[in-house]
Amino acid sequence: MVNDLREFLDELEKRGKLLVVKNADWDLEIGTINELVAEKQGPGLIFDEIKGYPKGFRVATNLLHHRIGQKLAFNFSEEMTDLACVEDFKNKINRFSPIHPIEVSNGPVKENILTGDSIDIYKFPTPKWHTHDGGRYIGTGVITITRDPDEGWVNFGTYRVMIQDKTTLAFYASPGKHATIMREKYWAKGKPCPVAMCFGQDPLLFGVSTIGLPWGMSEYDFAGFVKGKGVEVIMDETTGLPIPASAEIVACGFSPPPEEDSRPEGPFGEWQGYYASGTRNEPVVHIKTLYHRNDPILFGQPPIKPPVNTWFPIPLHTASFLWNRLEKSGMMDIRGVYVHGPGNRIIAVISLKQRYLGHAKQVATLAGAFLQGGACTGRYIITVDEDIDPSNLDEVLWAVCTRCDPEQYIDIVPGFLTSPLDPMLSPEKRAKKDYTTAKVFINACKPYHWKHEFPLVNRASDELRQKVMEKFSEVFKGIK
Ligand SMILES: Cc1cc2nc3c(=O)[nH]c(=O)nc-3n(C[C@H](O)[C@H](O)[C@H](O)COP(=O)(O)O)c2cc1C
Repeated sequence: MVNDLREFLDELEKRGKLLVVKNADWDLEIGTINELVAEKQGPGLIFDEIKGYPKGFRVATNLLHHRIGQKLAFNFSEEMTDLACVEDFKNKINRFSPIHPIEVSNGPVKENILTGDSIDIYKFPTPKWHTHDGGRYIGTGVITITRDPDEGWVNFGTYRVMIQDKTTLAFYASPGKHATIMREKYWAKGKPCPVAMCFGQDPLLFGVSTIGLPWGMSEYDFAGFVKGKGVEVIMDETTGLPIPASAEIVACGFSPPPEEDSRPEGPFGEWQGYYASGTRNEPVVHIKTLYHRNDPILFGQPPIKPPVNTWFPIPLHTASFLWNRLEKSGMMDIRGVYVHGPGNRIIAVISLKQRYLGHAKQVATLAGAFLQGGACTGRYIITVDEDIDPSNLDEVLWAVCTRCDPEQYIDIVPGFLTSPLDPMLSPEKRAKKDYTTAKVFINACKPYHWKHEFPLVNRASDELRQKVMEKFSEVFKGIK
C-alpha cells in the first residue's frame, strides 16, 4: 500500500497515468488545463515551473478519477467490480477496530518549518481554479485536523480553504460537520480553536477525510485500520495536533471566534456545478507554524461541473456506509447499495429481496435519514428488486420506468438538512438560513402484494445462457 503522495504519484507514472505540465500560470491556466484534461478522462497532472514560482514547487491535480487510483489508494485489486469494492469496504467497516496513529519525532514534513515573519502562504503556487472564484483556494484536496475540546479525540475532514493574506486562511465547513461542531465548542468557552490544515498527503487520508464517519470515530484510527498499520504523525507543538509525518504542506494555527475575526469566503465553483453559496463571512485560521517538504507538492482537487468527476469514482464514502447502517439497523436481505450523481452523493439505490409488505418503504425511509449532512445528499432514494444491479444506472432507470406508478410509489418528504451549497435554495430560504430540502423516495420494486402476478421478465435464464454459450463458443469468443 502506498504511504504518501509521492509513492502514489510513482505508481500512477508506472501505469502511464501521469503527465508533467510546465510553464502554466496559477491564475486560471492550471484550473482550465485540469478541467479540459479531466473532461477527456485524461491522466493525472503535475504542474511544475509555474509562472512566478521556483522549479520544484508543484501542483498535482486530476489524480483520483481513475479506478486505478482509487484501488491503489484503498488497496483493492484491479479486477474487482465497483459493487464488489463497495461490499468489501462495507464488510471491512463491520470489522473496524481502531489502529491509532504512531507518534514519531521526525518526518519529511519537518524539512522546512516557518514561524513568525517567515510565514507566507503565497510561497506555494496556489491556483485560482475557476473564472468566478473569489480568490485562490489552497484547500481543495485538504484535510483539516481538529481535536474535540471535551472528549479529546482528533477529527479530520475536507473543508475548502481560501487564502486571505499571507498568514490567514478562511475555511468553509457546512452546518453539522464535525469541525463545525468542534470549533463552536471552543468558541463557546471563549477560546480559539486549534486547527491544522494539510494540503498534500497520502490519498487514503484524503479519501477517509471525506467519509462521514460517526461522531467520536477518529479518521486517523480508521485510516490506520484500512492500512493495517498506524499512520505516522508528528505533534505540532503550538496546537498540540498530530499531523501526518509525510505530508507535503501543513499550516497550523488557531481559529478565533467569528465575532473576533471572520472574512469573506467565496464564491467558489462547487461540486454541484454552480457558484451557489456566493460570498459570506466565514471563520479564519491564523497560521502560527507552516511546515513543508522540500520541493512541495500542493494537491488540488477542485470541483468541475458534472458529469465530469475528478474525485474517487467508486462511492465507498457513501454506499458502503449506507449499506452497513441499513444492515446494522436490522434490515434484512439488502443485496446491494450504490450511490450515483454528482460527488456520488445524490441518488442512492438500494437493491433488496422484498420479504414483507412495506419492506422496501422501511429500507428507503431509513436510507433517507442516514444519508444526511451535505448539499443535496441523498435527495433521491430508489429501492429496486434483487434482480437489478444498483450500480448500473440504466438498469435502475428501467426499473423506475416499469415498476413504479408515480401516483402510488413516489413520496416527497420535506425538511431534511441540505447546506448553503444547494443550488435549489430559493433566495427567501437562504435569507432565513433555512437550509432544508425535500427528499424523494421512489419505490421501483414490483408491488409486493401482487408481485407474483407481475409480468415475467423477458430474458433467457442463466442456465439456458450458459448452455447456449458452451454450445456456440465460437460465436462468443471475441464478444465480452
Ligand atoms: C472534494 C471534496 C470537497 C469537500 N469540500 C467540503 C467543504 O468545502 N465543506 C464541507 O463542509 N464539506 C466538504 N466536503 C464534504 C466533507 O469532506 C465530508 O462531509 C466529510 O465527511 C466531513 O468530515 P466530518 O464528518 O469529520 O465533518 C467535501 C468533500 C469532498 C469529497
